[in-house]
Amino acid sequence: MTRIVSAAAGDVRAVLGIGSGPFLRPWSHGSLLEETGRPHSRFALAADGGEVLGYAVTRCYSDWAELLCVAVSADARRRGVGSMLLADAETRAAASGAARLLLEVHADNAAALAMYARRGFAVSGRRAGYYANPRGDAILMEKNLLEREGAAC
Ligand SMILES: CC(C)(COP(=O)(O)OP(=O)(O)OC[C@H]1O[C@@H](n2cnc3c(N)ncnc32)[C@H](O)[C@@H]1OP(=O)(O)O)[C@@H](O)C(=O)NCCC(=O)NCCS
Repeated sequence: MTRIVSAAAGDVRAVLGIGSGPFLRPWSHGSLLEETGRPHSRFALAADGGEVLGYAVTRCYSDWAELLCVAVSADARRRGVGSMLLADAETRAAASGAARLLLEVHADNAAALAMYARRGFAVSGRRAGYYANPRGDAILMEKNLLEREGAAC
Protein backbone atom coordinates (compact mmCIF):
# COMPACT_ATOMS: atom_id res chain seq x y z
CA MET A 1 0.00 0.00 0.00
CA THR A 2 1.35 3.43 -0.89
CA ARG A 3 1.67 5.84 2.01
CA ILE A 4 2.79 9.46 2.21
CA VAL A 5 5.43 10.04 4.87
CA SER A 6 7.90 12.76 5.83
CA ALA A 7 11.33 12.37 4.29
CA ALA A 8 14.27 11.96 6.62
CA ALA A 9 17.95 12.52 5.91
CA GLY A 10 18.39 8.80 5.25
CA ASP A 11 15.83 8.91 2.41
CA VAL A 12 17.70 11.39 0.24
CA ARG A 13 19.62 8.79 -1.75
CA ALA A 14 16.43 6.94 -2.64
CA VAL A 15 14.86 10.22 -3.77
CA LEU A 16 17.85 10.91 -6.02
CA GLY A 17 17.18 7.47 -7.51
CA ILE A 18 13.84 8.74 -8.88
CA GLY A 19 16.06 10.41 -11.46
CA SER A 20 15.59 13.43 -13.63
CA GLY A 21 13.81 14.20 -16.87
CA PRO A 22 13.12 17.01 -19.30
CA PHE A 23 10.78 18.75 -16.85
CA LEU A 24 12.40 17.71 -13.61
CA ARG A 25 15.34 19.80 -12.57
CA PRO A 26 17.62 17.57 -10.53
CA TRP A 27 18.11 18.61 -6.93
CA SER A 28 21.50 18.09 -5.37
CA HIS A 29 21.98 15.75 -2.43
CA GLY A 30 22.75 18.79 -0.27
CA SER A 31 19.62 20.71 -1.30
CA LEU A 32 17.36 17.75 -0.58
CA LEU A 33 19.10 17.14 2.72
CA GLU A 34 18.47 20.76 3.67
CA GLU A 35 14.74 20.36 2.97
CA THR A 36 14.50 17.58 5.57
CA GLY A 37 15.43 20.09 8.26
CA ARG A 38 13.78 23.25 6.98
CA PRO A 39 11.02 24.27 9.42
CA HIS A 40 8.63 25.61 6.77
CA SER A 41 9.22 22.86 4.25
CA ARG A 42 7.16 19.74 3.70
CA PHE A 43 9.38 17.15 2.05
CA ALA A 44 7.09 14.18 1.48
CA LEU A 45 7.73 10.71 0.15
CA ALA A 46 5.34 8.27 -1.43
CA ALA A 47 6.54 4.90 -0.17
CA ASP A 48 5.38 1.36 -0.67
CA GLY A 49 7.05 -0.86 1.85
CA GLY A 50 10.69 0.12 1.62
CA GLU A 51 10.42 1.44 -1.93
CA VAL A 52 10.29 5.18 -2.60
CA LEU A 53 7.91 5.82 -5.52
CA GLY A 54 7.90 9.60 -5.53
CA TYR A 55 8.43 12.80 -3.62
CA ALA A 56 7.25 16.37 -3.33
CA VAL A 57 8.70 19.50 -1.80
CA THR A 58 6.42 22.30 -0.63
CA ARG A 59 7.41 25.47 1.18
CA CYS A 60 4.83 27.05 3.44
CA TYR A 61 5.07 30.79 4.03
CA SER A 62 2.69 33.02 6.00
CA ASP A 63 -0.56 32.82 4.06
CA TRP A 64 0.62 31.06 0.93
CA ALA A 65 2.64 28.03 -0.03
CA GLU A 66 4.60 26.94 -3.07
CA LEU A 67 4.96 23.48 -4.53
CA LEU A 68 8.59 23.36 -5.65
CA CYS A 69 8.64 19.87 -7.03
CA VAL A 70 6.64 16.69 -7.42
CA ALA A 71 7.99 13.61 -9.14
CA VAL A 72 7.10 9.95 -9.45
CA SER A 73 9.43 7.22 -10.66
CA ALA A 74 8.79 6.34 -14.31
CA ASP A 75 7.48 2.84 -13.59
CA ALA A 76 5.02 4.00 -10.90
CA ARG A 77 3.23 6.69 -12.90
CA ARG A 78 -0.51 6.79 -13.69
CA ARG A 79 -1.32 4.98 -10.46
CA GLY A 80 -2.39 8.03 -8.49
CA VAL A 81 0.91 8.53 -6.66
CA GLY A 82 1.45 12.08 -7.95
CA SER A 83 -2.10 12.97 -6.92
CA MET A 84 -1.51 11.59 -3.43
CA LEU A 85 1.61 13.73 -3.07
CA LEU A 86 -0.28 16.76 -4.29
CA ALA A 87 -3.15 16.13 -1.88
CA ASP A 88 -0.62 15.89 0.95
CA ALA A 89 1.00 19.18 -0.11
CA GLU A 90 -2.42 20.87 -0.06
CA THR A 91 -3.28 19.47 3.35
CA ARG A 92 0.05 20.48 4.87
CA ALA A 93 -0.06 23.94 3.35
CA ALA A 94 -3.60 24.52 4.59
CA ALA A 95 -2.67 23.25 8.05
CA SER A 96 0.18 25.77 8.21
CA GLY A 97 -2.24 28.61 7.47
CA ALA A 98 -1.77 28.99 3.72
CA ALA A 99 -4.82 30.11 1.79
CA ARG A 100 -3.26 29.46 -1.62
CA LEU A 101 -0.91 26.86 -3.05
CA LEU A 102 1.11 28.16 -6.00
CA LEU A 103 3.27 26.39 -8.55
CA GLU A 104 4.87 26.86 -11.92
CA VAL A 105 5.12 24.27 -14.63
CA HIS A 106 6.64 24.03 -18.08
CA ALA A 107 4.03 24.74 -20.75
CA ASP A 108 4.96 21.49 -22.55
CA ASN A 109 4.63 19.32 -19.44
CA ALA A 110 1.29 17.79 -20.41
CA ALA A 111 1.29 15.17 -17.65
CA ALA A 112 1.84 17.65 -14.83
CA LEU A 113 -0.57 20.21 -16.31
CA ALA A 114 -3.27 17.54 -16.52
CA MET A 115 -2.66 16.37 -12.96
CA TYR A 116 -2.76 19.90 -11.53
CA ALA A 117 -5.93 20.77 -13.47
CA ARG A 118 -7.56 17.58 -12.30
CA ARG A 119 -6.86 18.52 -8.68
CA GLY A 120 -8.44 21.92 -9.14
CA PHE A 121 -5.47 24.16 -9.88
CA ALA A 122 -6.29 27.10 -12.14
CA VAL A 123 -3.95 28.97 -14.46
CA SER A 124 -3.06 32.36 -12.99
CA GLY A 125 -0.37 33.57 -15.38
CA ARG A 126 2.33 32.77 -17.88
CA ARG A 127 6.01 33.73 -18.00
CA ALA A 128 7.19 33.76 -21.59
CA GLY A 129 10.55 32.11 -22.20
CA TYR A 130 11.06 31.33 -18.52
CA TYR A 131 12.66 27.93 -19.06
CA ALA A 132 15.88 27.52 -21.02
CA ASN A 133 16.19 23.75 -21.25
CA PRO A 134 13.91 22.66 -22.73
CA ARG A 135 13.06 26.16 -23.91
CA GLY A 136 9.52 27.18 -23.09
CA ASP A 137 7.10 29.25 -21.10
CA ALA A 138 6.19 28.74 -17.47
CA ILE A 139 2.52 28.35 -16.66
CA LEU A 140 1.65 29.71 -13.21
CA MET A 141 -1.09 27.85 -11.41
CA GLU A 142 -2.72 28.12 -8.04
CA LYS A 143 -5.37 26.54 -5.90
CA ASN A 144 -7.49 28.26 -3.29
CA LEU A 145 -7.08 26.01 -0.26
CA LEU A 146 -10.01 27.59 1.57
CA GLU A 147 -12.41 26.33 -1.07
CA ARG A 148 -11.20 22.74 -0.96
CA GLU A 149 -13.74 20.05 -0.25
CA GLY A 150 -13.64 19.41 3.48
CA ALA A 151 -11.74 22.63 4.27
CA ALA A 152 -12.68 24.14 7.60
CA CYS A 153 -14.83 27.31 7.52
C1 LIG B 1 3.61 14.70 -13.31
C2 LIG B 1 3.77 13.41 -12.50
C3 LIG B 1 4.26 13.77 -11.10
C4 LIG B 1 2.38 12.74 -12.40
O1 LIG B 1 2.50 11.64 -11.49
P1 LIG B 1 1.52 10.38 -11.60
O2 LIG B 1 1.68 9.58 -10.36
O3 LIG B 1 1.71 9.68 -12.88
O4 LIG B 1 0.09 11.10 -11.62
P2 LIG B 1 -1.33 10.44 -11.28
O5 LIG B 1 -1.30 8.97 -11.54
O6 LIG B 1 -1.75 10.90 -9.93
O7 LIG B 1 -2.24 11.13 -12.39
C5 LIG B 1 -3.36 11.93 -12.06
C6 LIG B 1 -3.98 12.46 -13.34
O8 LIG B 1 -3.09 13.35 -14.01
C7 LIG B 1 -3.23 13.19 -15.43
N1 LIG B 1 -2.00 12.63 -15.99
C8 LIG B 1 -0.94 12.10 -15.33
N2 LIG B 1 0.01 11.72 -16.20
C9 LIG B 1 -0.47 12.00 -17.44
C10 LIG B 1 0.06 11.84 -18.74
N3 LIG B 1 1.27 11.29 -18.95
N4 LIG B 1 -0.69 12.25 -19.80
C11 LIG B 1 -1.91 12.81 -19.60
N5 LIG B 1 -2.48 12.98 -18.38
C12 LIG B 1 -1.76 12.58 -17.32
C13 LIG B 1 -4.39 12.22 -15.63
O9 LIG B 1 -5.60 12.96 -15.63
C14 LIG B 1 -4.28 11.38 -14.37
O10 LIG B 1 -5.47 10.71 -14.03
P3 LIG B 1 -5.79 9.28 -14.75
O11 LIG B 1 -4.55 8.44 -14.68
O12 LIG B 1 -6.92 8.74 -13.94
O13 LIG B 1 -6.16 9.62 -16.17
C15 LIG B 1 4.73 12.40 -13.21
O14 LIG B 1 4.35 12.28 -14.56
C16 LIG B 1 6.19 12.81 -13.14
O15 LIG B 1 6.88 12.49 -12.18
N6 LIG B 1 6.67 13.52 -14.16
C17 LIG B 1 8.09 13.95 -14.18
C18 LIG B 1 8.37 15.03 -13.16
C19 LIG B 1 7.53 16.27 -13.39
O16 LIG B 1 7.31 16.68 -14.54
N7 LIG B 1 7.08 16.89 -12.29
C20 LIG B 1 6.32 18.15 -12.36
C21 LIG B 1 7.21 19.34 -12.35
S1 LIG B 1 8.31 19.39 -10.93
